Amino acid sequence: MIFYFSGTGNSEWIAKEIAKKQNEEIRFIPEIIQKKEFYYRAAENEKIGFVFPIHSWGPPKIVLNFIKHLTLEFSASNYFFFVCTCGDDIGLSKKVFVKALSTKGITCNSGFSVIMPNNYILMKGFNVDPKNLEEKKLKESVDRVRYINDCLNKRVTGLFECKKGYFPFFKTHIIGLLFNKYQISDKAFFTTNSCNGCKLCEKICPVGNIKVNKKPEWKHNCTLCLACIHKCPQTAIQYGKETAKKGRYYFEKK
Ligand SMILES: Cc1cc2nc3c(=O)[nH]c(=O)nc-3n(C[C@H](O)[C@H](O)[C@H](O)COP(=O)(O)O)c2cc1C
Repeated sequence: MIFYFSGTGNSEWIAKEIAKKQNEEIRFIPEIIQKKEFYYRAAENEKIGFVFPIHSWGPPKIVLNFIKHLTLEFSASNYFFFVCTCGDDIGLSKKVFVKALSTKGITCNSGFSVIMPNNYILMKGFNVDPKNLEEKKLKESVDRVRYINDCLNKRVTGLFECKKGYFPFFKTHIIGLLFNKYQISDKAFFTTNSCNGCKLCEKICPVGNIKVNKKPEWKHNCTLCLACIHKCPQTAIQYGKETAKKGRYYFEKK
């Protein structure tokens, strides 16, 4: 079983590639949360994977919340791993995620980070990658995912290949804490006059946080995955004063 979360499709693509090659089922975490289907019984030898993007040098709150509620029946025959996607680096996310699993009595066998195109555009100094870098990352990710699948085929244990980056403690435990406390909010989203009420944002919001009543309204249950702002076909969604001049990105299979 592969449990995954994704806003702009990077992690979704990887989750699907892994599920296909490992011959495992796949489930979208927000759907499980919405249906409150937190019980899962792993089959003998089944691999259980978690795939998600990095949000402010940690696993997204929604993913940690899911782990908290998960009731998993498993045995020593099961194999546990995670794959996280990031634009640059993940700080101490590995430690945070492995610890979250350990509270459920689960020992994580392996974990990997994959560098993918950046989708964080909300603050000064952050933008989507230039086209050539985006293409380079996408190209390199194909081999990376192939390598990860090879490792999973071999059920490698104790292998954690995660790009921590500089100042990982500060990023995860200071900036990450402030982000989770103060930045996860939809209050700064608004639409410009180019919004034509197409309702795509309502349809693609993974947590059902948007209702379109002529124009979108955000219902204050946002995870800040940024699916809405990146996928709006009219580029009509903005966030505060920063995003008008920023690029947009979402994963498209070439
Ligand atoms: C709120 C938010 C915070 C992010 N924080 C980080 C980060 O700390 N480090 C990083 O390298 N990328 C960061 N990113 C970029 C994403 O992790 C990256 O683009 C990821 O592949 C997006 O995955 P998705 O398309 O599955 O949503 C952040 C993105 C968002 C939306």
